[in-house]
Amino acid sequence: MNRIPAEHIRASVAWIRERMPGTPDVALVLGSGLGDYADGLPGRTSLPTADIPHYPVSTVEGHRGALVFAELGGKKLLAFQGRIHLYECNDLTMVLYPILVAAGLGVRALVVTNAAGGINRQFAPGDLMLITDQIDLMFERLPAGVPSARHTRLYDETLTGRAEELARKRGIPVRRGVYAGVKGPSYETAAEVEMIHRLGGDAVGMSTVKEVLCASELGMTVLGISCITNKATGIGSAPLDHAEVRDVAGRVRRDFALLLTDIIQALGQVSMNSR
Ligand code: HPA
Repeated sequence: MNRIPAEHIRASVAWIRERMPGTPDVALVLGSGLGDYADGLPGRTSLPTADIPHYPVSTVEGHRGALVFAELGGKKLLAFQGRIHLYECNDLTMVLYPILVAAGLGVRALVVTNAAGGINRQFAPGDLMLITDQIDLMFERLPAGVPSARHTRLYDETLTGRAEELARKRGIPVRRGVYAGVKGPSYETAAEVEMIHRLGGDAVGMSTVKEVLCASELGMTVLGISCITNKATGIGSAPLDHAEVRDVAGRVRRDFALLLTDIIQALGQVSMNSR
């Protein structure tokens, strides 16, 4: 089993702190095709992850690696552009690196976003889904050094309810549902999608579940948002490809950006870590 390289995390955190003093109020992980959100933030400072000592490098198209700092309505935001997927490296210490860095910087709240295939037949491409719970189908235990088996309520209900309310005020339709995380990189077969449906999954993707588990174990309050980019195999008729995932994510960019900004600004009004 891999071990979290604590001294690497410390070195990354120290390097970032020198350039970005202060504790971010919230960290935001941006999923496939959703990274542009951070480019539109006023007064932002961007640090390429390639410059950060020990920081892992992503290889997936549409996943630029950068940490973006910005202030939104008095809230200090740290956004991660580009995530590392388990299928790229088969190493959870790399997947969880941003979460551990966020924790090292003192972050207490995490908003995780992803692109996902819709399994619930009511969902259409372009829908946003607030994640109420998850099914971890990656079958990997957390690396040594991350506390585990303490929490089972991973997504904060108060924050999720607040996000839903903010979406309603904006007239942005949002769904609620269970996110199933698979390892990938192959898209699921129709039989696998049917299995996930029977298990209770509303959407399926190749990220998020381990990051959220880790963040929760580290005491963070978590909100999860999936952008449904396609109907999962067997639910729709079209074959899946990564370009489609990015295109649909791009189309919902405006709603997504408005909602995210509202949520980040509202974060202080929700009592943190109510567990
Ligand atoms: N399956 C898995 N991951 C995904 C999908 C999907 O259909 N769409 C976007 N990410």
